[in-house]
Amino acid sequence: MKITAAIAQGPDHPFAIEQIDIDDPRPDEVLVRLVATGVCHTDIFFRDLMPQPAVLGHEGAGVVEAVGSAVKKVQPGDHVVLSYGSCGTCPSCDAGAPYYCHDFGVHNASGARPDGTPTLTRDGTPLFGNFFSQSSFASHALANQTNVVKVRKDAPLELLGPLGCGVQTGAGSVMNGLEPLPGEALVVFGAGTVGLSAIMAANLIGCEPIIAVDPVAARRDLALSLGAHHGIDPTATDPVAEIKRLTGKGALHALECTGIPKVFEQAVACLAPRGTCGLIGAPPPRSTAAIDLGNLLGKGIRIRGLIEGESQIDAFIPHLVELFQDGLLPIDRLVTFYELDQINEAVADSLEGRTIKPILRMPR
Ligand SMILES: NC(=O)c1ccc[n+]([C@@H]2O[C@H](COP(=O)([O-])OP(=O)(O)OC[C@H]3O[C@@H](n4cnc5c(N)ncnc54)[C@H](O)[C@@H]3O)[C@@H](O)[C@H]2O)c1
Ligand SMILES: [Zn+2]
Ligand SMILES: [Zn+2]
Repeated sequence: MKITAAIAQGPDHPFAIEQIDIDDPRPDEVLVRLVATGVCHTDIFFRDLMPQPAVLGHEGAGVVEAVGSAVKKVQPGDHVVLSYGSCGTCPSCDAGAPYYCHDFGVHNASGARPDGTPTLTRDGTPLFGNFFSQSSFASHALANQTNVVKVRKDAPLELLGPLGCGVQTGAGSVMNGLEPLPGEALVVFGAGTVGLSAIMAANLIGCEPIIAVDPVAARRDLALSLGAHHGIDPTATDPVAEIKRLTGKGALHALECTGIPKVFEQAVACLAPRGTCGLIGAPPPRSTAAIDLGNLLGKGIRIRGLIEGESQIDAFIPHLVELFQDGLLPIDRLVTFYELDQINEAVADSLEGRTIKPILRMPR
């Protein structure tokens, strides 16, 4: 079937809108007509790393158009959010932790189905597709039933795509990962979609103080209006010293949501005894960080990676939809809408800090 897609052509090249071909769904696959898709910072990160040409995008939301013969989970007409892929059979998937699937790379960033066959072609030549088991910068996506989540029809579908990555990553890193108690201090480094979603979740739990660190004043202001008690500009103040001043002994919880190794070092250094730092931001390949090992040892500090907010997507994404519908997770305040053919503007606005969460609407 012919579809319209935004093709990534390399780090310094604009995305190009083209007609390409999408494969028919196999027995365990779902063809989705996308209504909209979020642009996550990870798309931009991968645009610069992936073999080109590629169809990226991994925050798709749309309506099921067709299902393979073995699909029981959804049917044509259902509203769905697409999330990350996993194998379903490895030790992590068996243990209920598909976010650490042993074959995460195969299902999310190999460019093809796990068996190596392409989902997308252009003039008969395979494109790098199946990104996060979807490649949602397109009018249609082929997903696997494991990464398709049915959502209620009264929710605004065009807003929901980011629940499949950025929002669940931030909110889930707090609710499923760090699990802070009410009254405990939590610091978020980087108030983009991920960090702001973490702040909204910490606010729902009743963490105090919640501290947002970001050099962009508008993002600190938004963080304050979403529940943060303090905003710190790291270009004006040493954030570690300021966090210690605000909290006394440091924070029990810190989340690194920038992907900058130096910021990760600050997120570890600002912790109180028994504190935990969650690493969320994707650093450049082979990054290392300098950690004061005496501080780590003496304070019982814990450091952990956090993928996709450790979200069990079939339960957590509908839960996030409920929170949004109840006015408790106002993700609409992060969003700016663009048409698919404005993708280059959306990416530029995101990189320059003008837009927090771009959502691309699909052509009808
Ligand atoms: N672990 C995962 O599963 C997962 C999932 C989604 C995204 N990510 C990654 O998380 C990170 C955040 O994603 P996003 O979409 O929110 O990105 P974003 O670019 O919107 O947000 C990053 C924020 O960091 C701020 N920042 C820059 N320098 C800073 C500094 N020195 N101190 C504090 N803040 C600083 C920026 O102003 C920006 O607001 C990215 O690296 C992305 O690739 C990881
Ligand atoms: Zn697995
Ligand atoms: Zn993402």
